[in-house]
Amino acid sequence: MSLLPILPFVRSVIEDHVTVGGIAIDATVGNGHDTLFLAKLVGAQGIVYGFDIQEEALEITRQRLEEAHVIDRVHLIRGSHQYMASSLPDTVIGNVQAIMFNLGYRPGGDKSIVTQPASTIAALEGGLQLLAPGGVITVVLYSGHQEGKAEADAVIEWGKHLDQKMYHVLWYQYINQKNSPPTVIAIERKG
Ligand SMILES: C[S@@+](CC[C@H](N)C(=O)[O-])C[C@H]1O[C@@H](n2cnc3c(N)ncnc32)[C@H](O)[C@@H]1O
Repeated sequence: MSLLPILPFVRSVIEDHVTVGGIAIDATVGNGHDTLFLAKLVGAQGIVYGFDIQEEALEITRQRLEEAHVIDRVHLIRGSHQYMASSLPDTVIGNVQAIMFNLGYRPGGDKSIVTQPASTIAALEGGLQLLAPGGVITVVLYSGHQEGKAEADAVIEWGKHLDQKMYHVLWYQYINQKNSPPTVIAIERKG
């Protein structure tokens, strides 16, 4: 087994930034695995906001959260993540400990419904406004197909230009694999 898998790396970054009672966002709810992960991390006193444009994704996730008895702390919102900063209460702005993005299409779902470069970048810009000092955004990027590559390139280009006085931006990836496994961008607002 690989010692450096991508998704557990993302989770370890998130775990380092989220505390019990905190606020976190899943910007791409999909099948709800990340929403559930965040809901457990923030605990009963915390809040998770989850966004997806697909009702089916939110339904599957609602059921997953109910079965795990954590639905009480999660707000599922049907809508594009590009409007997340304006659709959340003012009290959330500047207080979010972690925002997770997992780009592409929902596994098992309609593959034509995918994240798009322009709305993803708009969502990331909104995410920066929401972050608490010391908070983090993670973005899982898929470059294995043409659309995904264009989106990944756009996110990486955007990340390269973030002010280094305000943010740490890391790009975590394998450099010796030919089959384009996912890579990760992590953006931490300096404390
Ligand atoms: C790869 S899946 C997410 C997987 C998910 N994190 C999980 O744990 O199962 C990507 C999701 O992003 C959603 N999506 C696409 N465009 C979106 C947008 N503009 N705003 C919010 N969600 C979007 C898709 O509907 C899809 O469910």
